[in-house]
Amino acid sequence: MILLGLNIDHCATLRQARYRQAGVSTGGNVEPDPVTLAFLSEKAGADGITVHLREDRRHIQDEDVLRLGAARTTRLNLEMACTPAMTAFALQLKPHSVCLVPESREEITTEGGLDVVRHRDKVARVTDAMNAAGIKTSLFIDPDPEQIALSAELHAPWVELHTGAYANAYFGPARAAEFRRLCTGAELAHAAGLVVNAGHGINYTNITEVRTIPHLHELNIGHSIISRALFTGIAEAVGEMKRLMNP
Ligand code: PXP
Repeated sequence: MILLGLNIDHCATLRQARYRQAGVSTGGNVEPDPVTLAFLSEKAGADGITVHLREDRRHIQDEDVLRLGAARTTRLNLEMACTPAMTAFALQLKPHSVCLVPESREEITTEGGLDVVRHRDKVARVTDAMNAAGIKTSLFIDPDPEQIALSAELHAPWVELHTGAYANAYFGPARAAEFRRLCTGAELAHAAGLVVNAGHGINYTNITEVRTIPHLHELNIGHSIISRALFTGIAEAVGEMKRLMNP
């Protein structure tokens, strides 16, 4: 069974588009509420909820994360930058897991994952702090052998392989090569003792191939499910993705 982590950031994107100036993230006219979406999604079969508390607070707000954390019905995965402020926030929140992601251009590899090789010390500091606190760390990396080997060396228990390059190439000639890179990366990560997750750009079309990547534990999916939910409702959108993930 491959697990589904639903990324609910885009629910907050929609709320912020109208209510950024409201000064509150819930109550009164302020909608849609990502925390309510999280509860409905889990009821429909999502195995966990992912939020990215960005430094620019573009979508998810601190209050959203604190409400999700307090609810404790949710298996919460907090995506975050490798900063002291976010590390302190995560240690206080104690989510089930954190996923370290790049937020500025210089942290990104050519494909778009976190450049663990270049930012080794920074990543090691956060991973060590999370390991000591019993919070699992996932590193959002390209399926690149060097990044994978170093992720294992830094004792991150999980990696999330960046599927963005594959998703972008899906209708073009580079798709097969990108898919092979993901499969090879997953094999390498598994052999190094890492739990293999994947995410970015996964949708109702490419999932039929993505799900055949070896050793997959969990897929983190946001945009396609939130988009589908506009037409079908979240329960149907989550249910259909889960059926396609685990036919
Ligand atoms: N995984 C990570 C680390 C992400 O940052 C995101 C959001 O960009 C996703 C998964 C979900 O991507 P998408 O919204 O394209 O499904």
